Amino acid sequence: MSVPSLRSFASLTLPVGLLAGLLIGPAQAQQPPRLDVPYVPTPEPVVAHMLKLAEVGPDDYLIDLGSGDGRIAISAVQDHGAKAALGIDLDPERVREARGNAEREGVTDKVTFEQGDLFQKDISEADVLTMYLLSTVNMRLRPVILDTLKPGTRVVSHAFSLGDWKPDQSDVINGSSVFLWIVPAKVAGQWTLELDGKRYQVELDQRFQRVTGTVEGHPAGLRGQLKGNELHFTLDDRLYVGQLNGDRIEAVPAEGAQQGWVAYRS
Ligand SMILES: C[S@@+](CC[C@H](N)C(=O)[O-])C[C@H]1O[C@@H](n2cnc3c(N)ncnc32)[C@H](O)[C@@H]1O
Repeated sequence: MSVPSLRSFASLTLPVGLLAGLLIGPAQAQQPPRLDVPYVPTPEPVVAHMLKLAEVGPDDYLIDLGSGDGRIAISAVQDHGAKAALGIDLDPERVREARGNAEREGVTDKVTFEQGDLFQKDISEADVLTMYLLSTVNMRLRPVILDTLKPGTRVVSHAFSLGDWKPDQSDVINGSSVFLWIVPAKVAGQWTLELDGKRYQVELDQRFQRVTGTVEGHPAGLRGQLKGNELHFTLDDRLYVGQLNGDRIEAVPAEGAQQGWVAYRS
């Protein structure tokens, strides 16, 4: 049986609560959980691609928001060796189903499912966050993602974007879009850059992972990009790559990149 995509539901104007009632059937529809997103599973090839794009591996704790039948959390552990995974779903029936699937696959020591509202859960420990929600839900989550997740956390969404926060990577697999964002560190503000034995005052502006800066004595300024705690920027056509550590950014070795510089918050 072919599974309808969530995008086709999202394009309808019916309220999601009503859609959820229609989807879960008349018995439960009398007391439906007030779902923000109806249940539509991600096709297995798309699950595989989401986890590949996030480069899930043995150091990763993955959280799937709105975990449905648990396929993403289970596959993260079973197929990609994640150290642990958590699925959160508001619908008790989905949580029962996901727990049954984890039991059947023999992964209950590493995969857990919690019933509850994804907006009420602490997700700050995630190394990888996955979601197949809706644009409106993603946008409500965006400040939580930017303000509570560690820099470097990978966020993967099936089908829906995060508005004007451009993905670091995106792919189309079997007709479905998959987006990857890497949570950027926060670097906006005043810095002192020590370079070639001189000190320069730098003011950095940041919009998600994109960084621009004014540098005294360098009218063209700097332009850069954050990948978690790693800042890549160009200044006077030279490439700089640095690692943010507390209030310092230190040069790291990278092909073609300048060495012997440091920046610290002024
Ligand atoms: C489109 S399905 C995605 C299921 C699974 N992540 C996947 O990709 O196969 C969305 C899921 O979110 C759940 N959900 C909806 N609103 C929620 C909320 N506020 N908190 C937690 N889960 C919610 C639904 O019950 C449903 O299982």
